[in-house]
Amino acid sequence: MKKKLIAGNWKMNGSLAANDKLLKDILVGVGQAACQMAVGVPAVYLSQCQALLAGTAIDLAAQDISAHEVGAYTGEISGAMLKEFGVRYVIVGHSERRQYHGETDEVVALKAQRALGCGITPIVCVGETLAEREAGKTDEVVKRQLAAVIHTNGHCISEVVVAYEPVWAIGTGKTATPEMAQQVHAVLRAQLKAASDHADRIKLLYGGSMNAANAASLLAQPDIDGGLIGGAALKAQDFLTIIAAAH
Ligand code: PGA
Repeated sequence: MKKKLIAGNWKMNGSLAANDKLLKDILVGVGQAACQMAVGVPAVYLSQCQALLAGTAIDLAAQDISAHEVGAYTGEISGAMLKEFGVRYVIVGHSERRQYHGETDEVVALKAQRALGCGITPIVCVGETLAEREAGKTDEVVKRQLAAVIHTNGHCISEVVVAYEPVWAIGTGKTATPEMAQQVHAVLRAQLKAASDHADRIKLLYGGSMNAANAASLLAQPDIDGGLIGGAALKAQDFLTIIAAAH
């Protein structure tokens, strides 16, 4: 059976001291986890977290990657640079980047392609806004977002991780019910199946106010293969409870 993946997305949180304590507390409590694990840390802390996680079962993730390979792109960080710090995953297309940094489906697809080219697994985020859900456009929006990544690829689509994150559920405390999430996951799975013979291998994560209390019921859904966790990933005990629920 495919192992679940629990990935933290720290967003723009942390400090040298806080990261040290958080990761040490997680490592002390994690024991023999049944799932795969990762933490997505701010780029400036990759080196620190790489050292703290060396030889452990927790993988390192970055929160963004440049769509370019190298050169005059001030402030950008390339896939090759991330690779030098042991990065295994990179989050691409998070709704905060789509919303605040104007990332289009095309840019997200290029970033995913760039990650794959460097041997980094992109965690591709898709999700509808509240207005899109209320207009009955959820399936159309997530399919459009995923289609861009499927079509601009050049690598086997089965090498990506997909995260369904309804925008209205991120950081709001409003979670999609397990049934609502499963419904969208089934749509995404069908789309992936049409694109690849290996779609069953692809992990489909749910994200958006997943927490210690609701993780087990979300993770019990047939097409939910893990979680992308924001706020609850900043509290060791909550993150550990979610990890324990992923088996
Ligand atoms: P949240 O964030 O768990 O705080 O809602 C999830 C995410 O944005 O990845």
